[in-house]
Amino acid sequence: MTTSLFFTSLISIVADLSIHMSAEQRYQRLLQHLGRIFPCDASALLKFENHSLIPLAVNGLSEDTLGRRFIVSEHPRLARILASDQAVRFAADSDLPDPYDGLIESDDDQLLVHDCMGVTLFIDGEPWGILTLDALTPGTFDHIDPMELSTFISLTTATVKAAGLITSLEQRVRYATQTLFKDNTAQNMIGDSDCMKTLRNEISIVAPSDLAVLILGETGVGKELVAQRIHRESNRADQVMVYVNCAALPESIAESELFGHVKGAFSGAISDRTGKFELADGGTIFLDEIGELPLSIQAKLLRTLQNGEIQRVGSDRQIKVNLRIIAATNRNLQQEVSAGLFRPDLYHRLAVYPMQVPALRERGKDVLLLAGAFLEKNQQRLGIKKLRLDQDAKQALLAYHWPGNIRELEHLLSRAALKSATAENRQADFITLSLAYLDIMPAQSRPLNPPDFNTVTASLAPIDLKNAVDAFQRQLIQQQLAAQQGNIAATARMLGLERGNFHRLLKRLALT
Ligand SMILES: Nc1ncnc2c1ncn2[C@@H]1O[C@H](COP(=O)(O)OP(=O)(O)OP(=O)(O)O)[C@@H](O)[C@H]1O
Ligand SMILES: [Mg+2]
Repeated sequence: MTTSLFFTSLISIVADLSIHMSAEQRYQRLLQHLGRIFPCDASALLKFENHSLIPLAVNGLSEDTLGRRFIVSEHPRLARILASDQAVRFAADSDLPDPYDGLIESDDDQLLVHDCMGVTLFIDGEPWGILTLDALTPGTFDHIDPMELSTFISLTTATVKAAGLITSLEQRVRYATQTLFKDNTAQNMIGDSDCMKTLRNEISIVAPSDLAVLILGETGVGKELVAQRIHRESNRADQVMVYVNCAALPESIAESELFGHVKGAFSGAISDRTGKFELADGGTIFLDEIGELPLSIQAKLLRTLQNGEIQRVGSDRQIKVNLRIIAATNRNLQQEVSAGLFRPDLYHRLAVYPMQVPALRERGKDVLLLAGAFLEKNQQRLGIKKLRLDQDAKQALLAYHWPGNIRELEHLLSRAALKSATAENRQADFITLSLAYLDIMPAQSRPLNPPDFNTVTASLAPIDLKNAVDAFQRQLIQQQLAAQQGNIAATARMLGLERGNFHRLLKRLALT
């Protein structure tokens, strides 16, 4: 190839590689271009990771090559390429086994490689991986122009580096967008009560520090909202806040989700993956429902918090990360520690600044402020002019004990608004929600007493725990059903149970 033709080809390759595509597609295209410039039957791009070379793209080699890992110490040719900073070519009669023997795609299954060369790609001074070229005919590479080869290698290195940067940028943008989206739609923290003022004050004190915060509180009190606010008031506000729901992390994938993995680390690991800790680098990581984290993962999390380093699954490399940790749970973590379900050392790392979010029943008239905000939202959603509460409804909201806290209030008002928005009502200047529209009764405003278990334990006879628990459940459910006038859906809601599960429970307890 003439020099000018070579450079013209190079320019069209650069143009082709700059269009939008995945890293895998980009590597594949690069190898196809390589095959057009340099005569060869097969080529491969392999990444060096964990003492092995892992094929990321292959051309002319059988499909299954992509699933293989070449342990460097077992492949002297690959070891020799990796040990050199120059292109390495092997003599056609070299007695070193070729890793691709039998893998070149051809009609004849057992064709052996006769001409083979490879070069190590260095990124930021470190060996990143290798590029290999193979031919079945001896002497194929005799006429390769060293200048053309080294130019192509530079292009390959640049492509690999760019692909890595693009992948990590794409991941960051995705997370940043998710976080921004969440932030934009996040409601303000509504509430004027003394306990909410104290909470706001605490947030403004702790937010600008880099201390780990543990947010505690019952379900639905607004722990996620508090976490968002801490991040927004911190010095990392313009960085990402990565959200992790520890309750949705099965133990089998938790480590890879949090810390990432390298390609081939386990059977489903078809490419490298950045974990949430790496994505949050420079920003905040929010570990929601931390109480649900399996003990084995707790140990790994502790190590990260101690060293500020993570290790991808399948890799020995330690990666430094700079993070602010916010965790939240509705469990009593101290009790979990005493019960041996949560590591005490991790608890102390996370609870540098514990913060209790008060329950709605402790917030006095905030219930009405919140109700106003939720009614406003519903009237917009339903196209109603004005929704308001009558006095009895307000009293009922103030007296109720709100086991599901603000989330329960929000849902209750959405249901009430929907029920009230009948065709004739919609045209009115305002719709007044009376107690009848709310799913709470004045009688329910105080928690009903649970059945007295003293009667069970007073007897000296041995206790059958299962029967005792069943009896307790039966009694509690009957009480609640009576309070809800036999309405099963409402009773299930009161007991925090999903309707299907509640039906099954009723059947098991012979209550239907
Ligand atoms: N002070 C508040 N002002 C307005 N809306 C609020 C407030 N606190 C909570 N909310 C709303 O109540 C709902 C529940 O809040 P959030 O999800 O933060 O609760 P949580 O404590 O994380 O609950 P869980 O323990 O179940 O995860 C959300 O829709 C949230 O926007
Ligand atoms: Mg939450």
